[in-house]
Amino acid sequence: MEDRVISSQNLQEGEYELKLRPSRLEEYIGQEELKEKLTIFIQASVARKEALDHVLLYGPPGLGKTTLAHIIASELGVAIRYTTGPAIDRPGDLASILTNLNEHDVLFIDEIHRLPRAVEEVLYSAMEDFALDLVLGKGPAARSVRLDLPRFTLIGATTRPGLLASPLRDRFGVLLHLDFYEASELSRIIDRSARVLGIPIDPEAAHEISRRSRGTPRVANRLLKRIRDYAQVRATGQITHVIAIEALDLLDVDHFGLDQVDRRLLQSIAERYQGGPVGLETLSAVVGEESGTIEEVVEPYLLQQGFLQRTPRGRVLTLRAYQHLGIPANAGLFDGDTPEQ
Ligand SMILES: Nc1ncnc2c1ncn2[C@@H]1O[C@H](COP(=O)(O)OP(=O)(O)OP(=O)(O)O)[C@@H](O)[C@H]1O
Ligand SMILES: [Mg+2]
Repeated sequence: MEDRVISSQNLQEGEYELKLRPSRLEEYIGQEELKEKLTIFIQASVARKEALDHVLLYGPPGLGKTTLAHIIASELGVAIRYTTGPAIDRPGDLASILTNLNEHDVLFIDEIHRLPRAVEEVLYSAMEDFALDLVLGKGPAARSVRLDLPRFTLIGATTRPGLLASPLRDRFGVLLHLDFYEASELSRIIDRSARVLGIPIDPEAAHEISRRSRGTPRVANRLLKRIRDYAQVRATGQITHVIAIEALDLLDVDHFGLDQVDRRLLQSIAERYQGGPVGLETLSAVVGEESGTIEEVVEPYLLQQGFLQRTPRGRVLTLRAYQHLGIPANAGLFDGDTPEQ
């Protein structure tokens, strides 16, 4: 996928992201309902001196799942061990991670929907009985051994909860869904990030950026960083409202936070497919993005904002999208691709 400034995917910004990551729940802005639930579960388990139930965090990229996993561990006062689904190749890898945990520690598995099936099956008994059933040896000599594990908390994160097998999903006691942020919340996140990074910014500018950040903190932080560059080179360094607008225009991020990729997608549905329905694979070929990327990264915000609708037969453009593109709603019918004389 091309390098989009508004991409909600993590583009190797390691140190920068780390710096901006809130480390306590009270610094974590927005997701109020989720925070309220989590606070109760954490306090209860700490008071009972038990490990927290396993937690599944799910929602689109860049909304703060990894951040929350670290916050949960620090609020529990335990260590966190980080790994990802595709990194655990074999059941043996999982066994060595699990046996090295201390009582009540957090094991964080990012992209948990990408765990190999054989590993996933071993995880079931680990989650439920805090024991590992391993088969040693092969053939008639094979024997199975049961290893006891410390009581740990598994935190799984995924952008694709639908891909989790139900036995796995059912073993999470706490399911937390992260949703896109309100502009007012993103504005506070931008203020906080600007403070952390020492960037002078006017409130109107923070507000402008927040409205164009696709409801996503990672996008907000990335735009802030790019606009800081612009303010530094073209002005005095202060991010004023005017500077923010100029920079955002230069970055080709429109009033809704849509960029060329989004507009190309919407436009091709309008012009080539008379507004749809269009299947995901077709769309993927037309806009030149992988279907997984469209489904996981591009589409969720367009759906949430009501530019696009998902129907059993494919994606359909809404009136709002036509208005945004400045195309009359029936224009597609007269398009050259499929003349209807
Ligand atoms: N509620 C929040 N308050 C302040 N900053 C936040 C919040 N949520 C996320 N961020 C910031 O947004 C960035 C992205 O968050 P994070 O990496 O946790 O997202 P993610 O959901 O794990 O994304 P992915 O699905 O790509 O793994 C981080 O740098 C973090 O600082
Ligand atoms: Mg993450």
